[in-house]
Amino acid sequence: MAIVYGGDYNPEQWPRETWAEDMRLMREAGVNRVSVGIFSWAKLEPEEGRYDFGWFDEVMDLLAANGVEACLATPTASPPPWFAATYPEAVMVDAGGRQLTHGSRQGFDPSSDVYLAKALNITEQIARRYAEHPALALWHVHNEYGCHNARSHTKAAAAKFRVWLRDRYGDLDGLNAAWGTAFWSQSYSAWDQVQAPLPTPTIPNPGQVLDWKRFSSWQLKQNYLAEAAVIGKYSDKPMTTNFMTGSHPDIDLWEFSDVVDVVATDHYLVGEDPHVNLGFAADYARSLGAGRPWILMEHSTSAVNWQGRNRAKAPREMIRNSFQHFARGADAIMYFQWRASRQGAEKWHSGMVPHAGTDSKIWREVCELGARLKELAEVEGSRVHADTAILWDFPNRWAQEHEARPTTDLEAQAVFDEYYAALWRAGITADVAEPEGDLSGYRLVVVPAVYLLSRKGAANLRQFVHGGGTVLVTPYSGVADETDTVYLGGYPGAIRDVLGVRTEEFHPLLDDTVALASGGTGRIWSEAAESTGAEVRDTYVLPSTAARTGADAPAGTATPAWLVNRFGEGTAHYLTTFPDDATLDRIVAAAAEDAGVAPAAEAPVGVEVVRRAHEDGRSWLFCINHTGADAKVKTADAVVDVPAGEVVVHREH
Ligand code: GAL
Repeated sequence: MAIVYGGDYNPEQWPRETWAEDMRLMREAGVNRVSVGIFSWAKLEPEEGRYDFGWFDEVMDLLAANGVEACLATPTASPPPWFAATYPEAVMVDAGGRQLTHGSRQGFDPSSDVYLAKALNITEQIARRYAEHPALALWHVHNEYGCHNARSHTKAAAAKFRVWLRDRYGDLDGLNAAWGTAFWSQSYSAWDQVQAPLPTPTIPNPGQVLDWKRFSSWQLKQNYLAEAAVIGKYSDKPMTTNFMTGSHPDIDLWEFSDVVDVVATDHYLVGEDPHVNLGFAADYARSLGAGRPWILMEHSTSAVNWQGRNRAKAPREMIRNSFQHFARGADAIMYFQWRASRQGAEKWHSGMVPHAGTDSKIWREVCELGARLKELAEVEGSRVHADTAILWDFPNRWAQEHEARPTTDLEAQAVFDEYYAALWRAGITADVAEPEGDLSGYRLVVVPAVYLLSRKGAANLRQFVHGGGTVLVTPYSGVADETDTVYLGGYPGAIRDVLGVRTEEFHPLLDDTVALASGGTGRIWSEAAESTGAEVRDTYVLPSTAARTGADAPAGTATPAWLVNRFGEGTAHYLTTFPDDATLDRIVAAAAEDAGVAPAAEAPVGVEVVRRAHEDGRSWLFCINHTGADAKVKTADAVVDVPAGEVVVHREH
């Protein structure tokens, strides 16, 4: 039993002399697993069909001799120069119709049969050669599917899109109905008229764009399955690929996660936000595996290189970040990458061994973390239990990316983050769930701008509330079905009955806000909602359209801001605007109380507390103090002192 610790190891970037030192330093830091081969295709197959495995044999043998496991990658995320030179049409075409070229990475079209053949060939060479190698622990298939090329608009992709559409809709009548092509004379009369979206004079058909995103996501999963099938001929070791649960929303991970043996994800801090996106990425990784422990395949020891301004982490911040993932269910803590590169596109990206060498803050923290993870080996395999879920759905996100919508100020990701942040401030650990998923284990479900809600998803929520659950629903939820067709009869058509509300029109706010009767402020959105049975807990005055245009107008009318409806055995909270944080915190507290949901412990805001427990009752309270002040975390049985900036893992039972 051990918590896995390590990172991407790219020895091909370094002279051989460095490799022995790498092994020594890995032992010093407590590294027990590294990912190898991710970007090695050009060194393993320098010319098409000519292989050079000698150096890689040496690397694998060194790892085995030093007790470091290999998470062995297929190098298919970065084809060598010969690939694009020989098969230029197999490189991707972007959304603007530009044929891209070699010179970076992911330079291929995921729908290209030529690419697939070459990728499966190198996969087979590697699988056959290393299947029985003593260092091999896990297969790392490809790298971050779709990170740069999730949607490639080639002719090959369009042809596969048509096959996918035929399968989904049967015939053109089905396709025309689903896409609403009666609008703007878009009805298709032959399959070859159906294309991948490319630039159009104005707003493209939303149904076509949405299905294109679904298809592109499906295509990447097919590529994983194809490589996995080849590996499976030679090896029975588990396989995974590194998702990007906190970013890159282009792949439907609810669908993809079914085929990996263990969920793995990468996470990088964005801007100044150290909690919300990290927490979401981690909770989502756990939820994708139905609560099973997961692998943090990459994060950074300090700065990344791909943001406008790349912030170096403060002292101890890296340790807090790693423990945030560990607390939320990761049993493997890994980084990109072992040694910070001296050259190439990522030379300004931090690594476990920084440019400064081992006499450095980063190296000291790397060694400290390795030692602490070793001491916590018995946490491995324990679970995080959440009785709250927050919904996340890819087609919903994709539909809301469409340019023509009530207001571009409302963004699906921003709404999700705002509600996730409110749960975080309340200390409530949440799972991430899909609208059509099993909600029976939860007491509280947050529905953040789930605009596109399928009939099945709506029925699922209805059943959840009817059976005694509590929902907290934001504006712009339950408005359209799975084909992006609006539900009629008043918004939100899919769940009006559950919410006890009916809205005739949306009134997105311009540059104004609304004043809540309770004293707070509503942003972005207002709507002409009427209660059809719900209790009205707060109101605002609906901005009068006439007043906004300067005409003589009657004063606006009071409209519900927060409605609470009893439905069956459960309770539904619905908001018709986006309240300020303090108001939202009050509303979340009310919904949590209705649901009987409580935080893991009592702690000041900024001190993250998450519990992991084994089935046999052993449990640990992870207390992570992000503040500059010493803090106390209180449970029914204990008071845990958590110094400023530090992490304390308190063994409870
Ligand atoms: C990931 C990728 C790594 C590295 C890292 C930099 O997207 O898998 O290879 O590029 O980002 O942050």
